[in-house]
Amino acid sequence: MHRTSSISELRKLIAEEKKLGKTIALVPTMGYLHRGHLTLIEKAKQTGSFVVVSIFVNPLQFGPNEDYARYPRDIERDAHLVEEVGVDLLFNPSLEEMYPHPMLTYVEVGQLDKVLCGANRPGHFRGVTTVVSKLFNIVQPDLAFFGQKDYQQYLIIRRMVSDLNLPIEVRGVPIVREEDGLALSSRNVFLTSEQRQEALILSRSLKEAADLIQRGEGSAQKIEEFIRTGITEQSQGVIDYIEVRDADDLSEVTEINRRIVIALAVKFGPTRLIDNIVVEV
Ligand code: PAJ
Repeated sequence: MHRTSSISELRKLIAEEKKLGKTIALVPTMGYLHRGHLTLIEKAKQTGSFVVVSIFVNPLQFGPNEDYARYPRDIERDAHLVEEVGVDLLFNPSLEEMYPHPMLTYVEVGQLDKVLCGANRPGHFRGVTTVVSKLFNIVQPDLAFFGQKDYQQYLIIRRMVSDLNLPIEVRGVPIVREEDGLALSSRNVFLTSEQRQEALILSRSLKEAADLIQRGEGSAQKIEEFIRTGITEQSQGVIDYIEVRDADDLSEVTEINRRIVIALAVKFGPTRLIDNIVVEV
């Protein structure tokens, strides 16, 4: 496996692979890798491409009171893991390599970035789309893989690629969960064992809500209330949002009569967890 923190070295390596006729697949991450990330990498490998994994904790997407400083990091462990699963190139740039001077240029996807996680994390998605644009320009991949655990992020990246005619195919990968249903996340390590147990209510109530819809419940408000009641009665979680939205454009839904996503964000102590489920009716 190649490993570099240098943009120019990465460009040279990629150019060589392209000359050999290889397609390039990129899996952008912030590291502290788990089975969710590894599933994205596996999907990338299955395409037969030259697989590039980036690990960069991007300060631009963290708010001033968020967990940038304490975001979990273990680059040597991560390097080991990606080498084991057969990644071709690990790109782990420093802060200075990615942001040698203050940024004056941003990439912003309007509208979609104002709802759900965007409503309570102003600037978050602008930070994501800006760094992902930089990574796309640095790596110039043919394919890029994103997890549907961050469903809104996935839709926003797709929209950015479409709006800007980027020659990249974005592929979404379904949420990878623990056996008990908890969606894998680098932030799960911050949960106490009690909080981790309580957090199971998130995936459980999403699943039950999806069942209710399949059995004919058509009111978005009733679905949201059902989940809200479950979480407040069975956990100490502090609800950030629970919303039923159109699965394609995140527009508001009152009557559930199309493909929708139920998305939620709940804080357990200082740790904010997100989860979602897509339901077809
Ligand atoms: P990070 O949280 O490290 O996630 C990297 C990728 O892994 C994202 O596409 C995310 O959706 C996916 N992922 C994480 N947990 C998953 C799970 N349980 N199942 C499926 N996919 C999962 O998302 C980011 O980093 C950053 O915002 C980034 C795109 C790298 C830009 O900085």
